[in-house]
Amino acid sequence: MTEKTHKGVFIIGTDTGVGKTVVAAGLALCLRDRGVKVGVMKPIATGCLSSDKRLYSTDAIYLFEAAENEYPLLSNPIRFRNPLAPHVASQIERTPVDMKKILWAYHEICRLYDFIIVEGIGGLLVPFMDNYFVADLVKEFNLPVIIVARGNLGTINHTLLTVQAGVNRGLNILGIILNGVPQANLSMAEVTNPRVIQDLTGLPVLGVLPKLSDVDVDHMLFGSLKKTFSEKIKLDTILSPG
Ligand SMILES: Nc1ncnc2c1ncn2[C@@H]1O[C@H](COP(=O)(O)OP(=O)(O)OP(=O)(O)O)[C@@H](O)[C@H]1O
Ligand SMILES: [Mg+2]
Repeated sequence: MTEKTHKGVFIIGTDTGVGKTVVAAGLALCLRDRGVKVGVMKPIATGCLSSDKRLYSTDAIYLFEAAENEYPLLSNPIRFRNPLAPHVASQIERTPVDMKKILWAYHEICRLYDFIIVEGIGGLLVPFMDNYFVADLVKEFNLPVIIVARGNLGTINHTLLTVQAGVNRGLNILGIILNGVPQANLSMAEVTNPRVIQDLTGLPVLGVLPKLSDVDVDHMLFGSLKKTFSEKIKLDTILSPG
């Protein structure tokens, strides 16, 4: 990798369910293909399932499998059962968010791997605790950001709001990935959104990832994700921006 290459990226979304996990996994698969030792992290997961009295996150397992990592507890140090923002889940489950545990796990992953992909939770202003949001964790990890947004009508507003919040907090935004666009018969919004978003934000649209019928986080299906991601997303801009 060149000197300009940073040590990882923080994947944030304009909302929950926009495709952060799919994008993070696609990136992990492609980087592994290039011989990069990739570590993944979902610092906090909520809405976790339980098995043998232990909570687990499907997002974390999906990322973990994509990257073929070895240390699940480092990849997903904090888990809550309720499908809520971390601050709310932590209050209901009477368990404070242990920031020391998150930071320790992050530094261990940085030590063990050459490139780190972190998936956020929901959007930039999802609260972890009083006066601490996803955006604050991005700053603490000191990673550049990729914004994942929907590709269809309505995404201009959500994307611009997210960019504005990120810029106001001094985040380094590498670009935007529009996700989940149909393979054919695109709407006018889906056709025009990449150019409009690029013009209005001044940030690169790093690519448009189509909806893939053989990809499913809940069922651990990767299908054509690696191939399509490498064809549609500007990997070199992610690795060596500018
Ligand atoms: N490009 C795609 N092709 C096919 N299915 C997709 C694609 N992107 C996302 N999905 C599906 O949409 C759902 C939401 O995607 P994903 O889990 O990646 O979103 P997320 O932003 O990580 O959500 P969360 O906020 O819950 O972490 C999942 O079921 C996933 O399998
Ligand atoms: Mg996810």
